[in-house]
Amino acid sequence: MNPLRRGPARDRRPRALSRASLTSITAAAVSLVAAGCVDVGTGPGKHGDRPLNRRLVAEGQEIFRFDTFGDDVYWTDTLRLHEVIASTVSPALALDVGLKVDVDALPDEVLDAIVSGDVDLQDPQTTVTLLKLGSVVGVQGTVENIDGRDTLTSVGITCALCHSTVDNSFTAGIGRRLDGWPNTDLNVGAIVALSPAIDPGLRAILQSWGPGRYDPRINIDGKNTPLVIPPAFGLRGVELETYTGDGPISYWNAYVAVTQMHGKGTFVDPRLGIRVINVPDEVTPKLRALLEYQLSLTTPRPPPGSFDPVAAERGKKLFRGVARCSSCHLPGDHFTDVNRGKLHRPEETGMDPAYARRTATGRYRTTPLRALWQHPPYFHDGSAATLEEVVEHYDAELDLRLTERQEAELGEYLRTL
Ligand code: HEC
Ligand code: HEC
Repeated sequence: MNPLRRGPARDRRPRALSRASLTSITAAAVSLVAAGCVDVGTGPGKHGDRPLNRRLVAEGQEIFRFDTFGDDVYWTDTLRLHEVIASTVSPALALDVGLKVDVDALPDEVLDAIVSGDVDLQDPQTTVTLLKLGSVVGVQGTVENIDGRDTLTSVGITCALCHSTVDNSFTAGIGRRLDGWPNTDLNVGAIVALSPAIDPGLRAILQSWGPGRYDPRINIDGKNTPLVIPPAFGLRGVELETYTGDGPISYWNAYVAVTQMHGKGTFVDPRLGIRVINVPDEVTPKLRALLEYQLSLTTPRPPPGSFDPVAAERGKKLFRGVARCSSCHLPGDHFTDVNRGKLHRPEETGMDPAYARRTATGRYRTTPLRALWQHPPYFHDGSAATLEEVVEHYDAELDLRLTERQEAELGEYLRTL
């Protein structure tokens, strides 16, 4: 029986996921060599000034939200998450691990049924219905009618899983999509740990990460230094991406789509000794549109009343003056010096070097400061819980000798960016 009793599901098959695309995937040739050149799909990011192509932006939005790049083979056949979801993941549990529901994908009858309490949020079959409606942000399910029952036959993930949230306009966890906003509630580790294919050692590591964090290299080098999931907005004009400036947007998009989401694409980086070739390549042809969409995602403004304007104005002067922040966070250039070709040794700013050592550059990029109010904690490893802790970190590391009042004013200014 459909647990959404008053809400007969609209038969809307998830867009980017079809049986046809699955069967078209031919055998994957995967090998690791340390030769060749870095294949970033598209060139470096000198994209600050050129106008955006609206057709590509629209195409890219579909890809960002709904495209699994064929990764459902991994999430279904290897991790068997479709079975776990259908048997144990109720909507209550899904919301608890930070998954979000797109209110615009739910028909009015379903919304009414949720309001009136007619939807069983403890029943995993309700989750199957939500997937059938294509409403779970970043998760694409295929639901087939088997013996009269809606059955989840495959599941895959999209970029939106980690880099989108919702505005909670309907209720906590259910609302309109906010693309590019990191999902600070999402517990990726806890979700993957549900898979029966994960061995106990790895499961314990995954369960230790907590919400809003993910280690995008653990399956490559076996090390574990989880990162705070960063925003995918506000990057137009920033020429190198990732905390360590490993490459431009399309480089990293290909890295994640192929090596982390396990999409059927090609990614080659001899610096890391990675060479994954899939034929056909379901990632590379999509990178251009995906880039264009990300460039269109602007930094959200701080909510009204969320900072004290007078203190923030003083903080701005400190940022550019005695606190020396603007020597690296260049105010006229996205608050970063990366466009000038600079990356920083971890000890320059007192950062833990462990993650940088695992990357191609070994250094940290001065993070472009964007909507800081939206995504605590801060720094790549989340070592500062609040903006005040960020300021305290620098005060100690750079021996700035700021007064408490100056620290508070800097914090207020950071809230305005
Ligand atoms: C499982 C969670 C997850 C998924 C899925 C994911 N990302 Fe990310 N993304 C991360 C993490 C963690 C980082 C930080 C990596 C780093 O900086 O070393 C990141 C970094 C980024 C950055 C760089 C941000 C910056 O400040 O430089 C961009 C852009 C990005 N991701 C876009 C995407 C796109 C596009 C997709 C889909 C192809 C995607 N991500 C899928 C977790 C994810
Ligand atoms: C020597 C260069 C340098 C100076 C000076 C500097 N920063 Fe940074 N900043 C960085 C680097 C590099 C990172 C990335 C570190 C990481 O993620 O571990 C960073 C990260 C940050 C972040 C985290 C952003 C995020 O989204 O996680 C904030 C906030 C920040 N800096 C604020 C400041 C303030 C305020 C000052 C002045 C008190 C300052 N910085 C001075 C280089 C610098």
